Amino acid sequence: MKSLLAVPWLYDLAQYVMRGTRYRKILAETHLKVASGDRVLDIGCGTGAMLECLPETVPPVEYVGFDMSPNYLAAARKTYGGRGEFYPLELTPRTVADFGKFDRVLAIGLVHHLDDAAAINLFTLAQRALRHGGKMITLDGVFTDSQSRLVKRLLQSDRGQHVRSESAYRALAHTAFPHVQTFVSDDLFRIPYTTLIMECTP
Ligand SMILES: C[S@@+](CC[C@H](N)C(=O)[O-])C[C@H]1O[C@@H](n2cnc3c(N)ncnc32)[C@H](O)[C@@H]1O
Repeated sequence: MKSLLAVPWLYDLAQYVMRGTRYRKILAETHLKVASGDRVLDIGCGTGAMLECLPETVPPVEYVGFDMSPNYLAAARKTYGGRGEFYPLELTPRTVADFGKFDRVLAIGLVHHLDDAAAINLFTLAQRALRHGGKMITLDGVFTDSQSRLVKRLLQSDRGQHVRSESAYRALAHTAFPHVQTFVSDDLFRIPYTTLIMECTP
C-alpha cells in the first residue's frame, strides 16, 4: 500500500478519498490568507495540489514547491507548471539564500515525516526564509487523549513515522518561532482523523 502511494495519481486519488478537498480550502481561506503578489514556498509540495486553492490574482501569487520525489514533481509540473515552479530540493541554508524571502512557508503533511532534529532544522530554516510579517503554516496528524482507537490506529499506520501530540509539535515549532497558534480538528478530513494546524510567526 505504502509503495503504491509513490505513484502520483494513486496518491492524489487516496488523498481525495481520505482527505477530500475541503481541508485545502479551509487552510487557504482561514490560515494562509495569501494576497496578490505574495511569495509562497510549499515544502513537501507533493503533486502541487495546494495551488488549486490559492487565489489567481494580478499580480500573481509567486508559488515555489520543493519535494524529494521526482514522480510527484513531474505530476506537479504537468498539472500546475503554468502557475508555479517545482524543484527537487529540501530546505537548506543554501536554498534559503538562493530563493530569497517568502510571505508564506507551508509544510502540509511534512513534519510527521521528520524526526525531532530534522523538524527543528525545518522550523529554523523556515523562520529564516520568511519576510517581515510572514508566517509558516503546518498541518499534520496528531495524537490526542480524546480520539477513538480507530483514529489512533490510522495515525499509527501513517507513512510518516513521527506523528506526535500537540504539545510535542508545538515544542518543536517554538524552537524557532516565539508565536505558535495551534488548531486541533476532528473533522477536517473525510475519514475520521485528528489534524493539527500550526500558524508560526517570528
Ligand atoms: C504527506 S505528503 C504531503 C504532500 C502535499 N503537501 C499534500 O498536502 O498533498 C509529504 C511530502 O513531503 C515530501 N518530503 C518528505 N521529506 C521531505 C523533505 N525533507 N523536503 C521536502 N519534501 C519532503 C514527500 O516526498 C511527500 O511528497
